[in-house]
Amino acid sequence: MRRGLDGFSDDVRAWRAATPGRAPVYHRLLEEAVALFQAPVGSTEEAARARVEAAWRERKQSSPYARPLLLMAALRAEALRMGPRHTLFEAIGAAQPRVASATRERLATALGDASPRLFADLSTRSVQTNETSRAVAWLWPAALAGGDAGRALALYDLGCSAGLNLAGDRLPPLWTDAAGTPLAVAARPRIVLRRGFDAGPLDVNRDGDCLWLTACIWPGEAARLQRLAAAIDAFRALASDPAAPRLETADLADVPERLNGIAGAVDGPALHLAYQTVVRDYLGEPLRRRYTDGMRAWLAAAQPAAPRVWIELEAPPGGGSMAIEAHLGRSGPAARAPLDLTLARCGYHPDRLTTDAAAVAAFSAALAAR
Ligand SMILES: C[S@@+](CC[C@H](N)C(=O)[O-])C[C@H]1O[C@@H](n2cnc3c(N)ncnc32)[C@H](O)[C@@H]1O
Repeated sequence: MRRGLDGFSDDVRAWRAATPGRAPVYHRLLEEAVALFQAPVGSTEEAARARVEAAWRERKQSSPYARPLLLMAALRAEALRMGPRHTLFEAIGAAQPRVASATRERLATALGDASPRLFADLSTRSVQTNETSRAVAWLWPAALAGGDAGRALALYDLGCSAGLNLAGDRLPPLWTDAAGTPLAVAARPRIVLRRGFDAGPLDVNRDGDCLWLTACIWPGEAARLQRLAAAIDAFRALASDPAAPRLETADLADVPERLNGIAGAVDGPALHLAYQTVVRDYLGEPLRRRYTDGMRAWLAAAQPAAPRVWIELEAPPGGGSMAIEAHLGRSGPAARAPLDLTLARCGYHPDRLTTDAAAVAAFSAALAAR
């Protein structure tokens, strides 16, 4: 756990090593930020350093990428709010980011002379990208489990940000397998419940939260911005649906118990599918252990007419490509530990999946039998 600017340069180094060739303007700006925070020169730079340090003094960050990306998102949010008047607008606010504009002098001004809004974002907000390509984590397993054959589906998004992946079935599919063949994802699932949980859910009916979601997308990523706009529209359009999305503020450690109550109140047979995408690294121990144990206990309480599945789309411990891991509850007298299957490997913003045929067959067979 790090506070203030302690170890900031190590975190930047780690982020830069993990993202070679991506977001060059953030690489440049973060390099300048490290130099500025290490040895500020003059009153503007000293003010810049002191204000960031003060904003983070009481914050504990468990993820090494949290502070570099939070600094970038907060600066980008301010550039988007102010437009071309902002000293870093050309660098990180414009549709085509200009790396040459990401200078130390402009960064110092953007921090040293900034509105208090910027420091409010630094001290209260978190990087909450809501990446809808990750909806594959439920759309594909739902198809494998017969989601297009009329089976009722109750969905739970754990660490949902704005909950946009709960509207993933309303967005154009974009996934293929490793050979480039379109992946069969659920096209018309019969969803009876859409629930999301997050420590600080974002509300797409609030302009400030929509701007923050935009700021969390890296500069120049036009396709992701378009998909975000479409997802916000799709989410809002579901407000009048019988299964309108509902988001709750909750710490993930407390969610498995809540899921028990909610799942028990769903009428009739349904597949209960809980999924979590890129959240695990935000959970420090022992919270992570409590959450994992709780989810495994939730799976163990599955009933034959109401099977329970928990999907994780996460980076495996120790790094490497992301994995889609499915855990299936096993009900009845033979109830044992959940069946754990790695269905596929994919990227951080998944569009192409390397599927594991044996795991996929085992997953489909286990759910077909219910
Ligand atoms: C990187 S975002 C991923 C959001 C979304 N799942 C996606 O893939 O687009 C991580 C999310 O986890 C949430 N989060 C982090 N720690 C949490 C906790 N202890 N309890 C609940 N939510 C948490 C954050 O607020 C954030 O919205």
